[in-house]
Amino acid sequence: MTRVIAVANQKGGVGKTTTAINVAACLAEAGFATLLVDLDPQGNAGSGLGLEAESAERSVYGVLGGQVSLAEVTQPTTVESLWVVPACRDLAGAEVELAGAENREFVLRGALHGALDAYEFVFVDCPPSLGVLTVNGLTAAHEALVPVQAEYFALEGLAQLLGTIDLVRERVNPDLRLLGIVITMLDGRTRLGKEVAAEVRAHLGGDVFATQVPRNVRLGEAPSHGLPISRYDPTCAGSDAYFDLAKEIVTRAPAGQRRPSGG
Ligand SMILES: Nc1ncnc2c1ncn2[C@@H]1O[C@H](COP(=O)(O)OP(=O)(O)O)[C@@H](O)[C@H]1O
Ligand SMILES: [Mg+2]
Repeated sequence: MTRVIAVANQKGGVGKTTTAINVAACLAEAGFATLLVDLDPQGNAGSGLGLEAESAERSVYGVLGGQVSLAEVTQPTTVESLWVVPACRDLAGAEVELAGAENREFVLRGALHGALDAYEFVFVDCPPSLGVLTVNGLTAAHEALVPVQAEYFALEGLAQLLGTIDLVRERVNPDLRLLGIVITMLDGRTRLGKEVAAEVRAHLGGDVFATQVPRNVRLGEAPSHGLPISRYDPTCAGSDAYFDLAKEIVTRAPAGQRRPSGG
């Protein structure tokens, strides 16, 4: 069964897009057919892989508007087995346009429906808000992957995000579960970095991935070359971390399979 994973956190700059691109690329490198859907008007998931939408219509914006199918705007990348649906600036307007629509939470889910069979993993890179786009991502997903930046106030806003995930589960998507929380941009040499990582683990325990993504210059450089870290610098610490995280994601059983039998 295809695993649809929404990468979400309403805070900006916490590593959502970096995580979405690089975990998706690592899984594709391992041979899993993987799709990355860019749901952020900033379009960094696409541009970080060297791609941009041909036009507003031929992007995820056109998909949500019903003008094009997802398959029509899916683009190949430099990594075999990795495909991208790019976003565009006009997607910002979708927050407003969808707000009044009937079944507005289900638009992306509907668009993904026919496309799922072609992929083993689908990642949705959500924008930095808890608006209708992120809710569409969570409604289309089986699992939520939450990057948390290892800095002061790391836990701020997290309760609201987890509350939103619970609400989406209760109201529109009973299959949704928390895949896990990943600590990003960790400076393990500093006392603050270590303290924040320990605090996140103390609060969230088993929901936190063992893998911690270090602050790594190469991870910051890779998008300007349009490459995932697995191609830009496969031996750096950032690449190691994202391969480790991809392995953890593969071994964390998909939704439904962790419930007790008969439950
Ligand atoms: N582990 C890391 N080490 C160094 N730079 C990083 C790391 N993760 C992300 N960055 C950089 O930090 C910025 C914000 O990351 P990004 O993934 O775009 O966050 P978000 O999608 O949550 O807004 C980007 O410039 C990105 O290249
Ligand atoms: Mg982003």
